[in-house]
Amino acid sequence: MIKKSECDQLNTSGEGGHAHMPNAAEALDCYLSIAQAIAGPTDYELVLENFANRLRALIAHDHLDIVLLHPKGTQICYEARMHTSWSHTQKLATPTEESPIRDVLRGDVAHILTDDAWTDPVFHFEGSDSKPIFEADLRSRIVVPLRVQGELIGSLAISSHKKNFYSEDLIVLAQGAADLVAAYLFALERGKEAKDSAVAELEATGRERTLRIGALRLTEGMERERQRLGMDLHDQTLADLSRIRRRMSRVEGGPKAAMDEIAAILNELDHCLDEVRGIVEDMKPGVLQLFGFSEAVEAHLQRCLKNMKRRIEMHVEDTSNGKMDDLEDTVRTAVYRIVQEAVNNALKHGECSRIDVRIAQSNSNLTVTIDDNGTGIQDTDLQSRSGISNIKTRTDLISAQVFFERLDGAAGTRVMIVVPMDTENVECDFA
Ligand SMILES: Nc1ncnc2c1ncn2[C@@H]1O[C@H](COP(=O)(O)OP(=O)(O)OP(=O)(O)O)[C@@H](O)[C@H]1O
Ligand SMILES: [Mg+2]
Repeated sequence: MIKKSECDQLNTSGEGGHAHMPNAAEALDCYLSIAQAIAGPTDYELVLENFANRLRALIAHDHLDIVLLHPKGTQICYEARMHTSWSHTQKLATPTEESPIRDVLRGDVAHILTDDAWTDPVFHFEGSDSKPIFEADLRSRIVVPLRVQGELIGSLAISSHKKNFYSEDLIVLAQGAADLVAAYLFALERGKEAKDSAVAELEATGRERTLRIGALRLTEGMERERQRLGMDLHDQTLADLSRIRRRMSRVEGGPKAAMDEIAAILNELDHCLDEVRGIVEDMKPGVLQLFGFSEAVEAHLQRCLKNMKRRIEMHVEDTSNGKMDDLEDTVRTAVYRIVQEAVNNALKHGECSRIDVRIAQSNSNLTVTIDDNGTGIQDTDLQSRSGISNIKTRTDLISAQVFFERLDGAAGTRVMIVVPMDTENVECDFA
């Protein structure tokens, strides 16, 4: 049975029977509005409905589904706009092998783009649960993976009743939206698991207060991240965009001059889009809250390395038994930000081929050491008013110490942060 939602009244087509291709500013507005709309509700249906409503400004569609992988080769499907027999309300968990989009769910392909799902053999194979494609009249489809920290957690499928509706260019926008919602759904899932186990603990021990405080912290953390994302997009991305607009308004002269200028603008746009992707990625220090310090550092390193052209070895070692996660959250976040900047510097300036991050306990302190084997920092660099100055401010605020050292023997740079473990009395509102 298929139910159409009221949102179907909205216009779903672009000009000339093809989906409209948004420009960079529209895409940014839409990502921001998606982030705002999904970071509130904790109910999957509502998250998806809000997501679909906002995504519509970016990619017109008649049906949207999110599939989340579950253990033992099964999956759950959440739908927006129209509800088919794929919906979790009809079948709780279905085998991934029977899914018409199993190629994406198994990680065999990077995405699926089809002009007509009715006839595209990719959806129709022996045992395929493809009936809803006909029932819901799904023709053009884009299917992209949902990933968190590189791990596949499901898929996002965007479908239209029209044939030949979506173009190749929309895939990257769909993937951006998928990355945005994946992080949130994952955090929601983990939050739900954490809450369930806390409830079980509560029943066993009757510690109501612990549960209340835990839930409060989770909410505060999510709220803080939302605000930070808004600020980052405002301060960084909007400033970039206005500069680009100003440059565009100066385009004049012959075709050669115009072409040169446009090429430069395109370059800037690429850079700007990279920044937005970075911010959206950074929106997930959920990893810090959910998995802890060393996982978050490792995730940051992996993220950076993905964008590097040269090969760099990296190593994260924690011999403190996860003690960093016992510190105040604000202290831990500040240390994480310091490590991020030190790693960024090593990659940006050091021309290194190896980065080692070590977390260790020594007496009543925790030390984090970031070593690279690059060109080595100079004494004069320490007068910097940028990243290094931020590092010093952050360490002061959490009553920690930072040392920069040029590694003469092996060459390279060492940044060492020493954090006192007794931070009970440290007042800190900076992270
Ligand atoms: N690991 C490193 N290896 C070599 N040089 C470094 C390293 N870290 C920092 N430096 C030097 O120190 C300078 C100051 O670093 P800092 O982080 O303060 O500024 P930046 O990275 O140039 O700018 P920003 O952080 O604002 O983007 C850098 O320009 C670079 O010359
Ligand atoms: Mg820097």
